[in-house]
Amino acid sequence: MARRAPAFVCQNCGAVYGRWQGKCESCGEWNTIAEESAAADVTAAAPGRPGRKGRPFKLEPLAGETHEAPRHPSRIAELDRVTGGGFVRGSVLLVGGDPGIGKSTLLIQAAAAIAKTGERAVYISGEEAVAQVRLRAERLGLSRAEVELAAETSVEDIIATLSQGKTPRLVVIDSIQTMWTDSVESAPGTVTQVRGSAQMLIRFAKRSGTAVILVGHVTKDGQIAGPRVVEHMVDAVLSFEGEGAHQFRILRAVKNRFGPTDEIGVFEMTGGGLREVTNPSELFLSERDLGAPGTAVFAGIEGTRPVLVEIQALVAPTTLGTPRRAVVGWDQSRLSMVLAVLEAHCGVKLSGHDVYLNVAGGLRIQEPAADLAAAAALVSSLTNAPLPADAVYFGEVSLSGVVRPVAQAAARLKEAQKLGFARAVLPESARGEAGEPGIALSTVDNLASLVADIAARGPGRSPAKLRRQEA
Ligand SMILES: Nc1ncnc2c1ncn2[C@@H]1O[C@H](COP(=O)(O)OP(=O)(O)OP(=O)(O)O)[C@@H](O)[C@H]1O
Ligand SMILES: [Mg+2]
Ligand SMILES: [Zn+2]
Repeated sequence: MARRAPAFVCQNCGAVYGRWQGKCESCGEWNTIAEESAAADVTAAAPGRPGRKGRPFKLEPLAGETHEAPRHPSRIAELDRVTGGGFVRGSVLLVGGDPGIGKSTLLIQAAAAIAKTGERAVYISGEEAVAQVRLRAERLGLSRAEVELAAETSVEDIIATLSQGKTPRLVVIDSIQTMWTDSVESAPGTVTQVRGSAQMLIRFAKRSGTAVILVGHVTKDGQIAGPRVVEHMVDAVLSFEGEGAHQFRILRAVKNRFGPTDEIGVFEMTGGGLREVTNPSELFLSERDLGAPGTAVFAGIEGTRPVLVEIQALVAPTTLGTPRRAVVGWDQSRLSMVLAVLEAHCGVKLSGHDVYLNVAGGLRIQEPAADLAAAAALVSSLTNAPLPADAVYFGEVSLSGVVRPVAQAAARLKEAQKLGFARAVLPESARGEAGEPGIALSTVDNLASLVADIAARGPGRSPAKLRRQEA
């Protein structure tokens, strides 16, 4: 193998430089650039076959026969929901998540579930000894599951082993950061090794039809460490999230070539492993602080499923020159926009206040439909006026302060009714779509009128006054 000049590779994003520098211009990280052998890049022309002449191949028409991607469901409904109905044959999934969040637990449960369907499932740990994996399986009550185990890190050895006997339906590699391959010269753990190993495993998956799950560690800012590059190579990227203090765990598809990316799977971490949560709204609302100002229940949609969740706001006079704006579980720029609209169109002065916004239960909301609930929680906190405990909120707020309709109003209302809510505050224009919801509708057409209603409730008063145009 001809040695070439050394290359300098960012260990965070994989950008390549001709010489060392302190900061990566591609991802902005400092001190992430390390020297690696240039010949190491397996994406470069394969060494040892110089100047091979290309061989023409047959091109296929786009209008050919198509087959529905053959899937193998795990029968863990919350997991299948996120993958889009099961593991696709020959596909590769990357599962990322914070240390200790429960990745190994989830995947040993998935492997056991596949084994239970009579298929071959293999779990390769590069981090734990076989005894440790067994111990976990015992705690999860899975010690009788016919999952094949190994503690291995050499990709060549792993592929040679997997290629023997019946083709595995599912292989879990825990984790991709611990794998290394001989085909690459760099040290184990470097981006180039991770990429090289991933590439070999992906090739194995496509060739054999085995579904391969790669576990990836996540850095403090939520990126999948090292193998950011791997995200582009795999068919699906799932992120396993949760808050340390809570038992909830949320599995979310960040990318999926074979399914939707907006579905979430909700689990609860228990002593016996991850338990599926089939009604997440009940879970997210289980710790509600009824009657406290600054909280509003948002009727949201995650994928195809309505999910009710509490939005909590705290607005307090600032002691600093620049007021703080902190948000957990929602989009920072979305919060800034709602604050700007409150200032500009509703006469709510917030420039002298710190603002904190939190989505309860560790859920991360991406819908603009949460604008109205967030605004209601903020104004409620500012005016110290609790919102009616039996109301849900949804609606998008435009820059002009108009409350705009959002999709699936009927599904949101149905979920609210199911969970015992008596009223919904929603966009005026959504009324037509709502059908016969069985709960009272208070429609608002602009944010200013909502603010006026909340302010009129006054501090600490409880009777529901937020009843503008009751249906
Ligand atoms: N006896 C127990 N009872 C309840 N929960 C437990 C018990 N033992 C471990 N856990 C939970 O399992 C979690 C560890 O799960 P797991 O090892 O699957 O995480 P991981 O994401 O694979 O971690 P790592 O990043 O270290 O590989 C712990 O954080 C803890 O919440
Ligand atoms: Mg683990
Ligand atoms: Zn970088």
